[in-house]
Amino acid sequence: MHITALTPNLGVEVTGLDLADAVAAPTSDRSQLVTQLLTQHGVVAYRDQSLDREQHKAVGRLFGELHIHPSQRGPKATGDREIFTVTSENGTGRVNGGRWHSDVSCDTNPPGGSILRLLEGPPSGGDTLFADMHRAFTTLSAPIRDLLVGLDAEHDQRRDLRWYGYEPIAGVTYPACAHPVVTSHPITGLPLLFVNEAFTERIVGLGDHESAAILAMLYDHIARRPDLHCRIRWQPGTVVMWDNRAVQHHAVDDYAPYLRHAERVTFSGARQPEPWTPS
Ligand code: SIN
Repeated sequence: MHITALTPNLGVEVTGLDLADAVAAPTSDRSQLVTQLLTQHGVVAYRDQSLDREQHKAVGRLFGELHIHPSQRGPKATGDREIFTVTSENGTGRVNGGRWHSDVSCDTNPPGGSILRLLEGPPSGGDTLFADMHRAFTTLSAPIRDLLVGLDAEHDQRRDLRWYGYEPIAGVTYPACAHPVVTSHPITGLPLLFVNEAFTERIVGLGDHESAAILAMLYDHIARRPDLHCRIRWQPGTVVMWDNRAVQHHAVDDYAPYLRHAERVTFSGARQPEPWTPS
C-alpha cells in the first residue's frame, strides 16, 4: 500500500488498499486505517477500486449511520434512499456541487463525511477541488478570528435549491438550522470555519449588509488561497472520501459535452456542530 500526499496541507492518495477487503472485515486494522486516514487528512482518494453499490454503502457504515439526502426523504422519493446521484444530466443546467460547499449543512446534524464513486467520467476535466476549513480559519487575521468566534449562521436548503433553479414549494418544510460560524471538529477538537456559499443564508445578529459583506469576504478567502486547496483528478475506479465538517468541495464544470455520473454515500456526523472556544 502507498499513501501519497496530494499537498503538504490537505489530502492523500492511496493505492494498494482494496476498500472491499476493509468492508469484508469491518473491525480489522485495515478498516480502522480507512477511518483514521480521513480524520488525519480530510480528503482521501482511493485508486483502482471495484466496489459495487452495497460495498460502497458498507464503506460509509464504517464511519457511522448513513445519512439520507433531503431529496430522498419524502414519500415521493424513488430508488435507493441511501444513494445520492451526482450527474451532469440532472436537467438544471448546473453540475451538482458546482460551487464551494459542504454537503447538506442545512441539517441539524450535517453529514460527517461523504464517499463518491465515479461511474462514468469525461476523458479529462470534471475534477473535484477541496479546501481545508481548519486552515481557512487559522489563516484569517486575529481580529477577524475573534469577531467570528461565538457567532452563529443560518443554513437553509432553499438557498441551494434556488441556485439550481428550483423554486421552493409553499407549505413544504425544508431543512434549515443555525450552526456556529466556527465549530470544533467532533473528533480532533480543532477549530473549523463552517459557513458555505451553497447553504449559509446569514450570520445571526448582524445587519443584512454586515452579514453579506462578512460572508463574501470569507468565501473570497476560501476561493483565493490555493494553499488551502487540493485537487482530485478522477480515474476509472477512483473512490474519494472527504470529511464534510473539515473541508469544503467544488465540482469543476469544464467537461461539456461529455457526461459525468457518480454515486455518493454520506454518513451522519458523530454529533451536531458545536462552537469552538479558544482555550
Ligand atoms: C458533490 O458531492 O457535491 C459532488 C462532488 C463531485 O461531483 O465531484
